[in-house]
Amino acid sequence: MRVVLLGPPGVGKGTQAARLSALAGIPHVSTGDMLREAVRKGSPLGRSVRGHVDGGTLVPDEVVGEAIADRLDQEDAAAGFLLDGFPRTIEQVEILDRILKRLGVELSAVVALDAPDSVIVRRLAGRRVCPSCWTVYHLESHPPRSAGVCDLCGSALVQRTDDEEEVIRERLRVYAEQTVAVREAYRERGLLRSVDGAGDANEVFRTLRELVARP
Ligand code: AP5
Repeated sequence: MRVVLLGPPGVGKGTQAARLSALAGIPHVSTGDMLREAVRKGSPLGRSVRGHVDGGTLVPDEVVGEAIADRLDQEDAAAGFLLDGFPRTIEQVEILDRILKRLGVELSAVVALDAPDSVIVRRLAGRRVCPSCWTVYHLESHPPRSAGVCDLCGSALVQRTDDEEEVIRERLRVYAEQTVAVREAYRERGLLRSVDGAGDANEVFRTLRELVARP
C-alpha cells in the first residue's frame, strides 16, 4: 500500500493516517511532523524552516523533497507507506515521481479528504498536540484521559504555533493557491479518490479503509 493523503489543514489527515498505518503496519510519513520535530530539536533543518512552519507558508520544495527521499529510502518504507502532507505543489508531485521511479514502485491511491471551512476551524481551534511524541488530541472529539496530559508519554499538551487564527487563514489560502492543483494532477492520472472528512473519526476511517483496500 502506497497512499498519499491530501486535504486542507485540519481536515483529519494525520488522525486518519495514524490509524491506517497502525492497521496496515506501514509507516505514517508526515512532512509536518518531520519539520516540527526538526524545529523542536533546533537542528540546522529546523532553524531554516521555522519561519515557514510558524507562519503557515510552504517550506521550499527541494528541502522537503530531500527529507522525503531520505525517509522513503529507509527499510520500513519498503513494504509501503502513507504520505501525509506531501506532495503539496506540482513541483513536489514531480519530485515524488522521481523518487518512486528510482525505487521502482508506484502509488496505489491518492485520497482527498474534504470538510467545510466551519468544521476545519472548529477542529484546529480545539486541537492539542503532544510536543514529545506528536500524538494529536481534540478538546471535544478526542480529549486525553487526563486534561492537558498526553495519554502515551505523559508530556504536557500544547497548541501548535500555526493554529492561531491568522496563521490558519494563511494555511487555507496557501492550500487553495498551491495544493488544489495537486489534486487535479492526480485526478487526471485516474488515481484520485475522495472521502467526506466531515463525519466523526470512526465513520471517516471506515470509508477510508474500504476505499484503499479496493484494487
Ligand atoms: P502539516 O502538519 O502537514 O499541516 P496541515 O496540512 O495544515 O494539516 P494539519 O496537521 O493541520 O491537519 P490534519 O489534516 O493532519 O488534521 P488532524 O488529523 O491533526 O504542515 C504544517 C506546516 O509544515 C505547513 O504549513 C508548512 O509550513 C510545512 N510543511 C509540511 N509539509 C510540507 C510540504 N510538503 N511542503 C512544504 N511545506 C510543508 O486533525 C485536526 C484536529 O481535528 C485534531 O484535533 C483531531 O483530533 C480532530 N479531528 C480529526 N478528525 C476528526 C473527526 N473526523 N471528527 C472530529 N475531530 C476530528
